[in-house]
Amino acid sequence: MNVRPKLAQPRRVRYTQVIEYILDRIDRGDWKAHDKLPSVRELAGELQLHRLTVFRAYGVLKERGTIYVKEKSGYFVSGSRPSTKPAVPEDGSPPRSNQGTGRAGGTTSPPVAWHRTGYLQNSLSEIHQIPAVYSFSQALIDPNLLPNLFLSDHVKQVFDRYPKLLGTYSSVQGDEELRELLCADMQRKDKLQVSPDELLITTGGQQAVDLLAGVYLRPMDYVLVERPTYSSALDCFRQRGARLLPVEIHRDGYDLDLVEAYLKRHKPRMFYMNPTFHNPTGYTVPASQRKRLVELAERYGCLLVEDDAVHDVYFDMPPPPPLYSYDTEGWVVYLRSFSKYLAPGLRICAVAARTAVMAPLLTAKSLADNGTPLVNQKLFQHCFESERLQQHLEKLRTALQIRRDVMEQALAPGTGWQWYRPQGGLNLWVRLPAGINSNQLLTEGIRRGLTFVPGTICDPLGELDERIRLSFSFQNEAQIREGIHLLIQLTDEFVQRG
Ligand SMILES: Cc1ncc(COP(=O)(O)O)c(C=O)c1O
Repeated sequence: MNVRPKLAQPRRVRYTQVIEYILDRIDRGDWKAHDKLPSVRELAGELQLHRLTVFRAYGVLKERGTIYVKEKSGYFVSGSRPSTKPAVPEDGSPPRSNQGTGRAGGTTSPPVAWHRTGYLQNSLSEIHQIPAVYSFSQALIDPNLLPNLFLSDHVKQVFDRYPKLLGTYSSVQGDEELRELLCADMQRKDKLQVSPDELLITTGGQQAVDLLAGVYLRPMDYVLVERPTYSSALDCFRQRGARLLPVEIHRDGYDLDLVEAYLKRHKPRMFYMNPTFHNPTGYTVPASQRKRLVELAERYGCLLVEDDAVHDVYFDMPPPPPLYSYDTEGWVVYLRSFSKYLAPGLRICAVAARTAVMAPLLTAKSLADNGTPLVNQKLFQHCFESERLQQHLEKLRTALQIRRDVMEQALAPGTGWQWYRPQGGLNLWVRLPAGINSNQLLTEGIRRGLTFVPGTICDPLGELDERIRLSFSFQNEAQIREGIHLLIQLTDEFVQRG
């Protein structure tokens, strides 16, 4: 009798991926000419691969002349690396700059950021834990702006209606009534064709990102990410050992030629994007690009993860329809979180995906927590369908717009500050006066009771040190005025000190 257990095999990482990985590290300048490379055992351990896979990759690179062997000493990087790729990109992507990132110029690999699997950090959460008098790091809504009395009355009514609410589990996929309600709402307001079977309720958008990363990413997979972006998503991808392939986001969207070149060349598993009132910049990708992005995803087989965390927090005009509304073949997963602006404590997010993507997500959700607490879903459902919610949203938009304006007015006297005026969302993405380093400024700010998010953690490459994210949603108007006054004072002190 065969008693050997069947072990689940992780997805195989091919030796060609290891070759790419080594070439990237050489390109990035991590391993320079004549540097000793990690031994086969060390690299296999670091990448969590079989030694033979690494051995084979080293063998191929040795044959190509990229690396050489010294008897009894190991592998070394060759003096001049024979070009493995043409100097002018085949795909038309711009040649890389070697500024700041420490990468060698003249080759075609884009800047890529990579951490070993198991990297466990949430830089944003670390900042949030710092106590502050003026907290501009929290992209949360001031609880005073929420309909608190209404919510507590509501709790009683919901418990009267479902007396056994606390004694019951939700289904893994989420409460059916809630899913039906959200589908009808998305169809009516956003023209999204989605059925209750195609909706999963998660515990906030953060859980949805984490589940998707767990289901779809394996070590060394490429993920396209915006630069800058929501840093906790980056930390999820890093934890899976994925390679981050940054695409700049501008006020008019992305360079679609570059996106296509990356899709074609690197075959990323997913493109994580936050195209509506983007965190941290506030940009919204225009409707004209949305359809094209879906076509590109279909053509190159890349999953678009559309994270829409503040869809209803717009100031003048509702945003364009989500990318999901253009999806016919199932390449878009749509994350609509409600936790920012309606009862944040309930942590409700709806994930829309077609069956092929939904099925493994459901399994992942069942492994994570067997379903979001039913009590949260029912409380949310009854809030969401009440007329009071619509009134709340109207008022909230006005209050947030005022806070944005107050923050802009408070920043205006500072010399050299620049920012984009967002038409929705919770943040200003600010360029600091020349020569100010955001991390040093944060250290000083924390000492004086003030926090913000430094640009470096929003950047997949860890640069953008001249930028900071200031949330205008958490502090009241007086606190915004005082806090920004202090911030300008701090930067002036830095400038004077030289
Ligand atoms: C773009 C983006 N995605 C996801 C999240 C997490 O949302 P949630 O609070 O629903 O977990 C945030 C929160 O700031 C966000 O800005």
